[in-house]
Amino acid sequence: MSKLSSLILLAAASIAVAGCKTLPPPMPLSQLDPQQAHGHDLFQSRCAACHYDRKDGSLHGPSMLGVFKKPSLPSGAAATDERVTATIMHGRGLMPALGNTLDQQDADGILAYLHTL
Ligand code: HEC
Repeated sequence: MSKLSSLILLAAASIAVAGCKTLPPPMPLSQLDPQQAHGHDLFQSRCAACHYDRKDGSLHGPSMLGVFKKPSLPSGAAATDERVTATIMHGRGLMPALGNTLDQQDADGILAYLHTL
């Protein structure tokens, strides 16, 4: 095989690996630690009206499935704790800011739960 075609194959393989279908599944709910479970509860009450967590597809906002397993957020920003915390606290576009109704412990819990998806 030529060097060029192996390079193309390699590129195609990396794209396939980054694609949603090959992401590892979310951690089963029964295996969440207390902080992650607290985050799951908060997600149900504060986020689930607008975001799916354990399946693909948009509700009012994009699904959070694999949010930290993908290289970037739906907006294209890097999928970092800082960026996601800022989105939760200050809002973004049509997403309302939730900072005045969540304390640091709540925000940390939600983040911990998002990391299990
Ligand atoms: C009232 C509906 C609503 C609620 C409640 C809501 N969101 Fe969102 N969220 C949105 C919408 C709409 C977007 C798309 C915003 C945009 O990119 O303009 C979004 C985007 C996001 C993004 C992607 C940001 C990016 O840079 O692409 C994350 C992460 C997120 N929300 C997390 C959360 C979490 C966690 C909660 C709960 C604490 C939450 N959202 C609650 C509507 C909501």
